[in-house]
Amino acid sequence: MVLEQTITTQKLIHIDEEQLIFHLQNSQISYVLGVETGGVLAHLYFGPRIQRYHGERHYPRIDRGFSGNLPGSLDRTYSKDDVPQEYSGNNTGDYRLPAAIIRAANGARTTDFRYKDYRVHTAKPELKGLPQTYVESDDEADTLTIIMVDETLNLQLELAYTIYRERSVVTRSAKLINLSEETVNIEKIASMQLDLPTRPLEVISLPGSYARERQISRHEVRRGVTQFESRRGGSSHHMNPFIALVEPQTTEFNGEALGILLIYSGNHQLSVERDSIGQTRVTAGINEYNFDWQLEPQQVFQTPETAMVYSTTGLNGMSQSYHSLLRDRVARGKHRNAERPILINNWEATYFDFDEDKLQEILDAAAPLGVEMFVLDDGWFGHRNDDNSSLGDWFVNKNKLPEGLTKIAQQTRAKEMKFGLWFEPENISEDSELFKAHPEWVLGVPQRGRTLSRNQYVLDFSQPDVVENLFQQMTAILDKVPVDYIKWDMNRNLTEVYSPLTKPEHQGEISHRYILGVYELMERLRTRYPQILFEGCSGGGGRFDAGLLYYMPQSWTSDNNDPIERLKIQYGTSLVYPISAVAAHVGTSPDELLGRSTSMDMRSAVAMSGVLGYELDASKLSLADRKAVKTQIQFYKQHRRLIQYGTFYRLESPFTSNTVAWLFVSPDKSEALLYRFIVQGVVQPEPHITTLAGLDPQCNYVDVDSQLVYGGDELMNVGLYTTPVQTNDFTAQINYFTAQ
Ligand code: GLA
Repeated sequence: MVLEQTITTQKLIHIDEEQLIFHLQNSQISYVLGVETGGVLAHLYFGPRIQRYHGERHYPRIDRGFSGNLPGSLDRTYSKDDVPQEYSGNNTGDYRLPAAIIRAANGARTTDFRYKDYRVHTAKPELKGLPQTYVESDDEADTLTIIMVDETLNLQLELAYTIYRERSVVTRSAKLINLSEETVNIEKIASMQLDLPTRPLEVISLPGSYARERQISRHEVRRGVTQFESRRGGSSHHMNPFIALVEPQTTEFNGEALGILLIYSGNHQLSVERDSIGQTRVTAGINEYNFDWQLEPQQVFQTPETAMVYSTTGLNGMSQSYHSLLRDRVARGKHRNAERPILINNWEATYFDFDEDKLQEILDAAAPLGVEMFVLDDGWFGHRNDDNSSLGDWFVNKNKLPEGLTKIAQQTRAKEMKFGLWFEPENISEDSELFKAHPEWVLGVPQRGRTLSRNQYVLDFSQPDVVENLFQQMTAILDKVPVDYIKWDMNRNLTEVYSPLTKPEHQGEISHRYILGVYELMERLRTRYPQILFEGCSGGGGRFDAGLLYYMPQSWTSDNNDPIERLKIQYGTSLVYPISAVAAHVGTSPDELLGRSTSMDMRSAVAMSGVLGYELDASKLSLADRKAVKTQIQFYKQHRRLIQYGTFYRLESPFTSNTVAWLFVSPDKSEALLYRFIVQGVVQPEPHITTLAGLDPQCNYVDVDSQLVYGGDELMNVGLYTTPVQTNDFTAQINYFTAQ
């Protein structure tokens, strides 16, 4: 209690006015920046909390050949080319990656921001129209805004830093204000830059592909530039907008980890550069690819936000900070901390081939199993019988559902289940009423063919009329039909990014304006229908990012339901994203995509490690499988809060080991749920021990199935042997412990 009081009265931002040093500090971390010679804003420190920074870490002055000096200065030992900075300009002597590139009216791409002033706010100012972290009380965080100017261009750059009182998190964003009388073009504007001192570092990222999302990659930060980016118009299956910088010795439980997460769903670029003297520069923000934003006099450009997490307890520590930040201070609405319903989806059961009777059959079979929600997936609208038509025509397909959506919603309700519906609002089929009426609403360059992907095009969401039309079409349904859940899909990437209704000089703005339009529609719908639970989706997990979580608290993780593949996908996803966001469904065996056969136990154990659902035809389940599903659902309901909102620990990685383990621990440590998996059976297996984490070492825990009792310290140090012996492929073992 006393401790809490001290913490709540503690100042979060300390300013040394004399030396112009800014120290953001809470009980866990410190972030320090200061003004160097010539008004250059220097990065000084980001790491474990220090009580006080005395201003003694002066940047070593060395005359480095071919690193130029400040205009008008005769000091050859001081160069912007090597000072660690908070936000670099372009073409003025810092040859490392610039944070911003601005083209002046005279064509010069030369930018040089220097310190001017600062402001401090309690809490956190809102970023209009963008996803973001937020606070619930003024006391929760403070924000420092550093004001920089480029005097020649008369541009003001405001760098915002928010430090939370009780989180190892600093968020950052940048805002550019054109105070001049001339229009400038922004060719690049990062949300943040971080220059880290010389030391060995490794970088972790989450690359992937369709159906193989967020595979963990880790390698040394070497001389030169490495980019982690998407140019696809969405955050993509291919590279998640996240990186972590770690020490070579960092593990899941030990060592430093510094995470950088962009809260944005469009084209992104996270760059890591190791310079000639071993320092590392990181920039993160909107991708400069195809980006050229015209900023007229008095206009303001606000970048998306980044959330930086610092952990000294390895990757699990970093992930747990992200989980709680994204779960509690990015996700919003009544579903934010609510237990998520167990759903069944008709997609892999029927694809496009369904009618009222078939859906009724699924409902009849699913309800007695304990399933809580039925989701009607693709194919219910226009005249859509395959994926070649009708996107854009969001009215019911009377051939399949002659009595409309209300009937199927009522049939679902009659079974005491909630009703969910699939939409793909951003896309359009050439074979649609909307395309006939508004061909000019489609992204594409006049006189040039448009690239098809899944035989569909992308609507020009940079246009307010398009956003309005989709809003009208969707509300016409949602005002009438009792819908509890929406799966919002997006089944292609952007190409020919050109808006026929936009002037040539604004075409470089379309990718970003597109995603702002998407956010606007999402915001309008979630505000109008607060009861609806939204789930993001993009051909599986192609837009599983922190930006979308601001509008939709969960996301379809992957179209790949094979549990072995899912071990990696879910393990990688958990590096950043909370379990309450990770939709995971039991599919069929053999698997629909891969064709691999796995047991019901294995499939359900992996799916139960996320937000559980079913991607199969319940009416076709064997008697044994029906029994198994019923038991799984009972088990999941009993442990759902622990799984979705407990503390998640990764114990053994599918990327490096044949045995995989993870653990859910309740916040008060009174319960723990351990999942262990063996990928391949092995002849003469080596005995394998799994040690647990996060328990109370003083407490005894009972394994509820075996009734064996273990000390928390025993489970965390002595551990448990993997049994049964590892001779079968694809097996799962679950242990549930309660504190005595
Ligand atoms: C995407 C989704 C699937 C399903 C189909 C429907 O691929 O990821 O779950 O909704 O679209 O077309």
